[in-house]
Amino acid sequence: MTHQAAISLAIELRFLADRLHDPASTVAPGARIGSALDPEALRQFTEECDVVTFDHEVVDLDALADLEAAGAVLRPSARTLRIVADKLSMRSALAEAGIPVPPSAPVEGSTDLERVMGDWPKAVLKLSHGGYDGRGVFMVDGWEEAFEAVAGHLAEGSPFIAEPHLELERELAVMVARRPGGQLVIYEPVETFQVDGQCRRITMPAPLSGDLRRQAMDLGRAVAETVDVVGILAVELFVVDGQLTVNELAARPHNSGHHTIEAATTSQFENHVRGVMDLPLGDPSPACTAAVTVNVIGRDTETDPRDLLTTALSVEPRAHIHLYGKQPRHNRKLGHVTVCDDQPEAAAEAAQRVAEALGSLEVMG
Ligand SMILES: Nc1ncnc2c1ncn2[C@@H]1O[C@H](COP(=O)(O)OP(=O)(O)OP(=O)(O)O)[C@@H](O)[C@H]1O
Ligand SMILES: [Mg+2]
Repeated sequence: MTHQAAISLAIELRFLADRLHDPASTVAPGARIGSALDPEALRQFTEECDVVTFDHEVVDLDALADLEAAGAVLRPSARTLRIVADKLSMRSALAEAGIPVPPSAPVEGSTDLERVMGDWPKAVLKLSHGGYDGRGVFMVDGWEEAFEAVAGHLAEGSPFIAEPHLELERELAVMVARRPGGQLVIYEPVETFQVDGQCRRITMPAPLSGDLRRQAMDLGRAVAETVDVVGILAVELFVVDGQLTVNELAARPHNSGHHTIEAATTSQFENHVRGVMDLPLGDPSPACTAAVTVNVIGRDTETDPRDLLTTALSVEPRAHIHLYGKQPRHNRKLGHVTVCDDQPEAAAEAAQRVAEALGSLEVMG
């Protein structure tokens, strides 16, 4: 999707892809096959590029910092990546800047675990590094469950962040795009719905009071400036007792911004490309009254949305279907569907029908 945006601006994208059949390497000619955890692959790749950016966090941060020191242009910078890639460092950077975050504590071993489970018998334990889509997030009730869930990881030396299990009124996301000089644009806040920690649906606009909407956008700006992001930043927010806190960040195009392809004047992908290339940013304003994006989630290895496309396309002519060309697997995000409408409920109903027709797992009620 970033490549589609770059094509329109005649900006040539190269990809470093793990495998020949990774979605990115199937849409762009001449992808380099290699791991972003391999310093030598990173060195060769950055040498071929004027500017390097990222679409995931599984990267060798030390190698990137060395390459940046030697002159490679990384946007966002190695420093931003380091803050954002690790939940513990992210939370402390935000707290230090006075940005509200949920209560949390680091867990590095069983003594820490015993203490936090004493404080918060119902807790959420999150791998500090490397989790995504709820993988690496454990909702536990009591010490025994906690120990069972995370002892193995702790023994391997992977730290966790622990939080009390919060009664979430809503979850929101704000996308912010920023240039190296600090110019930024803020998108309309969206409401996100997760099942088992995985985002399933996005509604724009989020149903918020004017005050809360403004606060969410102000927090987006404050966070983008604190972590000095360049390109797009996703800021995930919790609403608890009417108050906003920042749950986590992603310094890359993000699922919570997929609706912007059709439902904003400039998509998150285009503004990511513009930001990292230090080009003037585009208008983030909504392009329709309401929009809903529903993720297409793999049911099993047999049900492939590509095989169901003919039916799905006939279900709802207004729907925008995006399939990622990934091999289907249970719980894997295989695509998304966006519908714009004057009414969010009507958009949600239509997008869900199409996702269902594409074989998506458990479309939400
Ligand atoms: N303290 C909490 N209390 C209640 N629910 C929580 C809490 N922390 C996380 N969750 C739920 O779990 C989801 C996933 O958590 P989080 O975003 O921290 O992890 P992640 O797996 O890194 O997510 P992502 O896929 O966005 O990278 C949240 O969106 C929320 O629904
Ligand atoms: Mg999240």
